[in-house]
Amino acid sequence: MVPRPGAEPSTRCPGPPRAGACYKTSGTLRRLTQPSPGGLWWCPELRGGLGGSWSQRDGRERATSWTAFFPFSCEVELWDSDEPITSKELERRVAGAYGLLCLLSDRVDKKILDAAGANLKVVSTLSVGVDHLALDEIKKRGIRVGYTPEVLTDATAELAVSLLLTTCRRLPEAMAEVKNGGWTSWKPLWMCGYGLTQSTVGIVGLGRIGQAIARRLKPFGIQKFLYTGRQPKPQEAAEFQAEFVSAPQLAAESDFIMVACSLTPETKGLCDRDFFQKMKKTAVFVNISRGDVVNQDDLYQALASGQIAAAGLDVTTPEPLPTGHPLLTLKNCVILPHIGSATYKTRNTMSLLAANNLLAGLRGEPMPSELKL
Ligand code: NDP
Ligand code: DGY
Repeated sequence: MVPRPGAEPSTRCPGPPRAGACYKTSGTLRRLTQPSPGGLWWCPELRGGLGGSWSQRDGRERATSWTAFFPFSCEVELWDSDEPITSKELERRVAGAYGLLCLLSDRVDKKILDAAGANLKVVSTLSVGVDHLALDEIKKRGIRVGYTPEVLTDATAELAVSLLLTTCRRLPEAMAEVKNGGWTSWKPLWMCGYGLTQSTVGIVGLGRIGQAIARRLKPFGIQKFLYTGRQPKPQEAAEFQAEFVSAPQLAAESDFIMVACSLTPETKGLCDRDFFQKMKKTAVFVNISRGDVVNQDDLYQALASGQIAAAGLDVTTPEPLPTGHPLLTLKNCVILPHIGSATYKTRNTMSLLAANNLLAGLRGEPMPSELKL
């Protein structure tokens, strides 16, 4: 979404209700009372911003697309598709824009910033991760950055724990056996996995999500938490009596490893051959951060050779992972399509926050969540 002040407010498409449409009533946007099959969602506390449109089918609400509205005069260029915009198209459409609301799949690099030109004042991303933004270039140009921390922490931690349990108790394999006739009788050692009770859990990156994961795992009877990061965080770690250790020590001593760090030049490829070789043969590795924190060829070798027991990945390189990728041939590798924050409520809250960040940036006001550059 690329707003440009100066033009008429964006009030698209009068006519029959449809998903993705924008409706204006007496100067404000209203939720349609009968939204089926497509209705507009809006938020009263917004002074302007981005609305997600719902469709209600099968008794479930589905967010189908986004639309934008602004109380001040401004022109919005909207990429009205769930599929990512190509960088060529973004380059073309961003020219002269004052603000850019982007997704983690939009690489905002020097080329895009050059194409935008000197007007660009704010980049607002619908994510907490900012590895897709060329932050050095952005800072050099005095552009402000909005992002969406906190509001997705619970959903992502919940998914991380789900992925851990799914992986360590081999749920996809077990479900497949039920369907393919592999379930012949109850057998003492058939489909055994690894349980969390009395285990050591190592967390790479005890940030917001890392802590939320530890908080959720604690009631499972974890014996010990280890963590690694740039420096010890005694205050945060106290809640879990977590011990700060080096990455190699964490790899060697953990039964379960949860990667929840941000992707930076320092964390790129952090989990590589050396890391996996230090892990226990019975250990389970989970990554919900970014695919590039892991060397995937090394992970494949570790899983295929039995160097480690299993891996659960919510993030990969590339995304989507090609359907013929070797990791997908392994029974001991569970792969999800980057759904950490994917609850209706969370994505909704993220979109509002991203819109409000953008608007505050355009007005020159403090943003609700601004990244310190
Ligand atoms: P935080 O900034 O709160 O946490 C980031 C953590 O990364 C910090 O604990 C930081 O350590 C750690 N870190 C930084 N550098 C290193 C390093 N060299 N070695 C080890 N750890 C390091 O961010 P969030 O917890 O909110 O989010 C973390 C990441 O999770 C995001 O950046 C994003 O990539 C990913 N994410 C994925 C989602 C998904 O859908 N799968 C959803 C949401 C986020 P320190 O405390 O020492 O600074
Ligand atoms: C993020 O916000 O960085 C996640 O990867 C998606 O919610």
